[in-house]
Amino acid sequence: MISKSPPLCMYPAGWKLLAMLALVLVVMVWYSISREDSLYFSIPEKKEPCYQGEAERKASKLFGNSSRDQPIFLQLKDYFWVKTPSAYELPFGTKGSEDLLLRVLALTSYSIPESIQSLKCRRCVVVGNGHRLRNSSLGEAINKYDVVIRLNNAPVSGYEGDVGTKTTMRLFYPESAHFNPKVENNPDTLLVLVAFKAMDFHWIETILSDKKRVRKGFWKQPPLIWDANPKQIRILNPFFMEIAADKLLSLPMQQSRKKPTTGLLAITLALHLCDLVHIAGFGYPDAFNKKQTIHYYEQITLKSMAGSGHNVSQEALAIKRMLEIGAVKNLTYF
Ligand SMILES: *[C@@H]1O[C@H](CO)[C@@H](O)[C@H](O)[C@H]1NC(C)=O
Ligand SMILES: *[C@@H]1O[C@H](CO)[C@@H](O)[C@H](O)[C@H]1NC(C)=O
Ligand SMILES: *[C@@H]1O[C@H](CO)[C@@H](O)[C@H](O)[C@H]1NC(C)=O
Ligand SMILES: *[C@@H]1O[C@H](CO)[C@@H](O)[C@H](O)[C@H]1NC(C)=O
Repeated sequence: MISKSPPLCMYPAGWKLLAMLALVLVVMVWYSISREDSLYFSIPEKKEPCYQGEAERKASKLFGNSSRDQPIFLQLKDYFWVKTPSAYELPFGTKGSEDLLLRVLALTSYSIPESIQSLKCRRCVVVGNGHRLRNSSLGEAINKYDVVIRLNNAPVSGYEGDVGTKTTMRLFYPESAHFNPKVENNPDTLLVLVAFKAMDFHWIETILSDKKRVRKGFWKQPPLIWDANPKQIRILNPFFMEIAADKLLSLPMQQSRKKPTTGLLAITLALHLCDLVHIAGFGYPDAFNKKQTIHYYEQITLKSMAGSGHNVSQEALAIKRMLEIGAVKNLTYF
């Protein structure tokens, strides 16, 4: 026979114990609610601590302090009223492309969304297109950042588990634009044009104002029809291309054959826009690894980078330096 013991609360001491447990529970719940970023008392969510201005402070070791007052996106008033003359031509400046740019800026917007502006501390992740994202299961972690920056035509659908679904900004140029901008973005994603040449401004103008498309002047046919809301389109300040090239890669500003990748540019931008910058899916396979695909979504190898004007080994060194000084942190092995 198993003797059944009476329930705990039948004993006077049991009541005391229960009361104590209840008190502890109440204190824990109160504690967890009083902390604004964690609603769970048993498993407090592990969010990276965010310190205002930290990314920019650390990045100033690389970029200096010159960039503090640079706008992220170009706006009409800077050109129309002040007419800030640019020292360089595209992609490092706007010299010689002002007229085209003015027409584009009249059609697009420049504001940073209130949802980002209002944050006390901006946690950002730059999602590179690297093959290392395959089977990374980072999707959920990526979606938790305040700002998710993606590159070019990198897809989300079909890879949600590894790359997430949230896209706050997507950097692209005409040749790298996805043919259907609605498919791989959210309705409020900012589509950030990185202009490499005057034709890139021309492309977006013809698209947005439905003028006759020009097919010449691109190294790959960009979309002729591109269904994006002009309110979502931003023009990246070429200043970020300038400092990525100059401060990170020591490239000469005149020789426009050599330029940073969109990925390095996006990290540079994030270091100015955000307070905390993490990167995922950066890094290329070793140069001798000729069969290894470089992107998570397509079968191309390092060979396709030859002649692109990018120096991937030099960029790897630049990113290593940023990791070393703690300006950025990697979510995938770099
Ligand atoms: C940038 O400014 C900070 C303080 O505002 C200063 O401590 C630091 O030395 C400056 N860095 C450079 C490279 O000028
Ligand atoms: C990803 O995981 C699947 C299923 O486990 C496997 O078949 C595939 O080879 C993996 N891919 C990579 C790139 O590791
Ligand atoms: C790329 O950068 C590396 C390291 O800075 C350098 O040794 C190499 O010569 C560069 N390659 C080209 C093609 O410029
Ligand atoms: C990030 O890269 C460093 C080497 O630069 C490596 O030691 C570390 O494990 C990487 N982090 C992750 C999460 O893979």
